Amino acid sequence: MIFIVAFLSSLLLSVSSTANALSLNYYDKTCPDAEDIVAKVVKNAAIKDKTVPAAVLRMHFHDCFIRGCDASVLLNSKGTNKAEKDGPPNISLHAFFVIDDAKKEVEAACPGVVSCADILAFAARDAVVLSGGPTWDVPKGRKDGRTSKASETAQLPAPAFNISQLQQSFSQRGLSMDDLVALSGGHTIGFSHCSSFQKRIRNFNATHDIDPTMQPSFAATLRSVCPANNAAKNAGATMDPSSTTFDNTYYKLILQGKALFSSDEALLTTPNTKDLVSEFAGSQVAFSEAFVKSMIKMSSLTGGQEVRKDCRVVN
Ligand code: HEM
Ligand SMILES: *[C@@H]1O[C@H](CO)[C@@H](O)[C@H](O)[C@H]1NC(C)=O
Ligand SMILES: *[C@@H]1O[C@H](CO)[C@@H](O)[C@H](O)[C@H]1NC(C)=O
Ligand SMILES: *[C@@H]1O[C@H](CO)[C@@H](O)[C@H](O)[C@H]1NC(C)=O
Repeated sequence: MIFIVAFLSSLLLSVSSTANALSLNYYDKTCPDAEDIVAKVVKNAAIKDKTVPAAVLRMHFHDCFIRGCDASVLLNSKGTNKAEKDGPPNISLHAFFVIDDAKKEVEAACPGVVSCADILAFAARDAVVLSGGPTWDVPKGRKDGRTSKASETAQLPAPAFNISQLQQSFSQRGLSMDDLVALSGGHTIGFSHCSSFQKRIRNFNATHDIDPTMQPSFAATLRSVCPANNAAKNAGATMDPSSTTFDNTYYKLILQGKALFSSDEALLTTPNTKDLVSEFAGSQVAFSEAFVKSMIKMSSLTGGQEVRKDCRVVN
């Protein structure tokens, strides 16, 4: 009994010392329409620009991996401080206007109540739903942070990471190998620039010009799209042929050697992660359930202090 109490209280301590308490009914009294307002804005933006859902989903992931989901990714650089959005892996983070628009409308309904971090978490869920993926209730009550540093984007996992580097990156944030496999499924939508997989298709290493884990005709296609020396800055490839549909194609592609990044193919390099890839490739339902569970876990990493008035600047 004593052990159980000690265990529970240490668990509570470890949670409360690092997190804002999140709940499903957080805005029930103070801003009951917040989620509907955000959903409408994201939907209208996605109708005009079909790259919006992928951009918003990736933005939320980047936010959560640096200082927790605290909207640090939304802050603008100021004075000598270069913010995350101006750091190196910023390439393709591009739908900031969607969150600005959503914030404006939410502020009009209930000023000073709903954090930018929550708005981004809602929008990421909406992006998945709009792409035909599963829906879920987003726990709410995140606060916005006051710090954003370009240098900290070095803490994001890189596309060349192998499985142990990925494991370390995720476990530092309390995320498991199962979470890694499920969340990597975010790569079922969107686009990548050549620079993110350039190393795999030319001068891979001393013995192989092309990464031998890549299916040869797939690599040849990418080479034809991506000129040497990254000469075409905007060139790239869709994550999968159904890149606006949130489905399990991504996992089928991994099994065929047709995923874009080493970090995707790396999921085949341990027995457990490989089994999960096969399971998700065979079952859209299994993938959807796992993705929802892991998204809620990732989006519950918190770290902010205030409710920003403008998502681009601290109060
Ligand atoms: C496991 C580690 C991960 C790595 C190494 C990684 C890396 C990358 C890279 C390099 C790109 C392409 C950027 C570009 O060249 O434009 C990208 C795009 C993307 N990533 Fe990831 N990512 C990871 C995990 C995630 C997670 C957890 C999610 C969301 C759940 C996610 C969602 C996306 C989406 C949606 C895109 C497409 C963005 C767009 O089309 O604008 N990624 N990722
Ligand atoms: C990305 O960061 C670079 C500096 O690393 C900066 O010059 C560029 O303007 C940024 N791009 C976007 C879209 O923010
Ligand atoms: C992953 O890469 C790191 C750094 O290059 C290396 O130390 C490690 O041995 C690699 N792990 C695997 C499983 O290849
Ligand atoms: C190049 O990569 C392949 C596949 O990962 C590996 O088998 C080979 O040993 C590597 N060659 C060198 C020289 O590192």
